[in-house]
Formats: sequence, structure tokens, C-alpha cells
Amino acid sequence: MSFPEAATPPELRAQVVALQDEAWPDRDAPALPRTSLTHDPELNPVTMVLVDGDIDGEDGGGADGGTVLAALDILSKEIRHAGRLFAVGGLSTVVTRRAARGRGHGRLLVTAAHETMARQGLDLGLFTCDRPLRAFYESAGWHALPGAVIVGGTRAAAFPSDQPGFDKVTMADFFTTEGRRHASSFHHARLGLYPGGTDRLW
Ligand SMILES: CC(C)(COP(=O)(O)OP(=O)(O)OC[C@H]1O[C@@H](n2cnc3c(N)ncnc32)[C@H](O)[C@@H]1OP(=O)(O)O)[C@@H](O)C(=O)NCCC(=O)NCCS
Repeated sequence: MSFPEAATPPELRAQVVALQDEAWPDRDAPALPRTSLTHDPELNPVTMVLVDGDIDGEDGGGADGGTVLAALDILSKEIRHAGRLFAVGGLSTVVTRRAARGRGHGRLLVTAAHETMARQGLDLGLFTCDRPLRAFYESAGWHALPGAVIVGGTRAAAFPSDQPGFDKVTMADFFTTEGRRHASSFHHARLGLYPGGTDRLW
């Protein structure tokens, strides 16, 4: 299922935040109320969840009824690169419930996100991951972008993906004709994404 982050049913939203807290216990805002937003609304966050259980509401519970096995958010914005504007989406806060890892749930949801992003008119998807997760994302339809660095944060407080102590790989896929035509210009480039101070590298 997917929802604009702010319109996620409260019971699902509470589970998503709990999974994020479990995976990133020391993230910047650990005391977030269960239903407050994780992402900057300017980035049009869309939450995708893989839910197990009673989602049809046989007991009247509606969409609130299941267990969230995995969750992620798709963020998007326009960037200027090589003199052109590109509609870019990225994956953020990809997480599988700890007790349910290693069963393919993460791959299923990340693959679904890839398909959703390809359909939604974005020129490309673009995000970083820690190097050991490269094969995981590749198995879900994404490709490593050779030599590319994402410059996150803001123009005033840049947060590059190649900063000391980071070992990140830039992952991407090009969806539109325009995106594909210019794909090679994204190789070995420093890509000014600047998603802001909340989602510094998405
Ligand atoms: C990364 C994560 C979402 C994967 O979810 P999952 O449901 O366990 O993934 P899957 O079961 O679909 O696994 C797919 C493959 O990725 C591999 N994989 C998963 N996590 C991995 C890790 N941390 N390092 C290396 N490989 C990993 C699995 O071994 C599996 O490979 P295989 O099919 O060859 O056996 C999950 O481990 C998680 O929530 N981690 C904590 C949060 C996190 O790091 N998120 C990613 C932010 S970029």
C-alpha cells in the first residue's frame, strides 16, 4: 500500500515510526511523537508499506489492521544538472521489521517502489546506500552510478555522500526518454541534490 506520508493511516504510521526507531535509534529526532512526520513535506514524501494480516478489515479494522513488515518512503524534487531540469525521486528510510528480515520483504518492497517511480513520470531515481547494500538494491532493479557523488544538505551546508567516514554507493535508474538520453552525464559527476536539512541525503 502507499499513501502520502501525512495521510498514512495512524495505526500504520505508528508502526512505520516504530520500525524506523528500531533501525535508527540515534537518528536526529528520537523523541518524535509516533505520528509526526519523518520527512520534509517539500519533498512530497510517499510512504510504501508491505503489510501482513487483516488489511481488508474483516473485523471492521479497515486499512489499519495489519502488521507492517517493511516500509520505505519515496521523496522527490527537481534538480538542475548539466543545464537541464530533471524530476528526481529517491528512496529513503528503507526498513524491514527486524524479526522479519532475510525473507525477501525488503526486495519485494524496493522492487515495487522502482516500478512505482518508473510509472510516475520521474526522469530518474537517485539515492545512496552503504556499500554492502549495493547488491540488495541491484537485485531490486537499481544500478550503481559509476563515480557519482550526491551532494545533499543545503547549498549553505552541503552534505556530500563522499565525506570522510562514509562509504556510500550512488544508485540510480533512468525512467523517461529524456532521463535515459542524458544518463551518461550523471556518471562521475557531483550531483547537487540539496534535499534540505531534514533529509540531508534523502
Ligand atoms: C536492508 C534491509 C531493508 C533489507 O531488508 P530484508 O527484508 O532483510 O531484505 P531481503 O530479505 O529482501 O534481502 C535481500 C538480500 O539483501 C541482503 N541483505 C540484506 N541486508 C543486508 C546487509 N545489511 N548487508 C548486506 N546484504 C544484505 C540479504 O542477504 C539478501 O540477499 P540474498 O537474497 O542474496 O540472500 C533490512 O536489512 C533493514 O531494515 N536494515 C536496517 C535499515 C537499513 O539499513 N536500511 C537501508 C538504508 S539504505
